[in-house]
Amino acid sequence: MIKGFIFDLDGVITDTAELHFAAWKKLSDDMDWQFDRDLNEKLRGISRMDSIKVIMDHNNVSLKEETIMELATQKNDIYVESLDHMTPEDYLPGAKELLTHLRSEGFSVALGSASKNAEKVLKQLNATHYFDVIGDGNSVSRSKPAPDIFLYASEKMGLSPERCIVFEDAEKGIDAAKASNFYSVGIGPEERVGHADVRFDTMKEATLFEVKSHFKDLF
Ligand code: G6P
Ligand code: MG
Repeated sequence: MIKGFIFDLDGVITDTAELHFAAWKKLSDDMDWQFDRDLNEKLRGISRMDSIKVIMDHNNVSLKEETIMELATQKNDIYVESLDHMTPEDYLPGAKELLTHLRSEGFSVALGSASKNAEKVLKQLNATHYFDVIGDGNSVSRSKPAPDIFLYASEKMGLSPERCIVFEDAEKGIDAAKASNFYSVGIGPEERVGHADVRFDTMKEATLFEVKSHFKDLF
């Protein structure tokens, strides 16, 4: 029986992809690196340090680890500043309604995000109270596609993976869920999350009713 839900943050609860894009673009322009929206798509769900390495690989750049960390910090400073403008109006349509519904039905709810800024994002949205457990980029060392963040969240909820449904918008996030036998809901296009157990174009369609209808033997 399903008792818990684990949510990715960026692209599921709120759309921070645009803010990440703007911050990476600023850093790339300063560094004379090529960076566009296609490359930004490849960063969905992966950690900050993995992201900068993808951008550097794309530009055939290699730097000392220390310099890479400084540049990643520069990007993060830009990103964190842009979060100040995020408000409780910035949930993706449907996300707040689903979280409210899950709480009212008594399910356990956890966050399973690769972001080290998850607490700030939740605070800006006034969403912290929806979560029993917060798993973020500070909770585990291996990031998606490793299943560690979801295992951290399910363990803290006291549930085995087979009793949890993971919501993810990233290809590597669905890979991570499947790597440890979590049920998965993909948010986004077929070519990105078509390997999830069930897929919706947006969070608006992903109501509890629809999710229960798909996994009907599990409720
Ligand atoms: C999420 C986003 C990624 C981002 C990662 C790390 O998974 O989808 O694009 O790189 O978080 O975020 P952070 O806030 O720690 O830089
Ligand atoms: Mg995401």
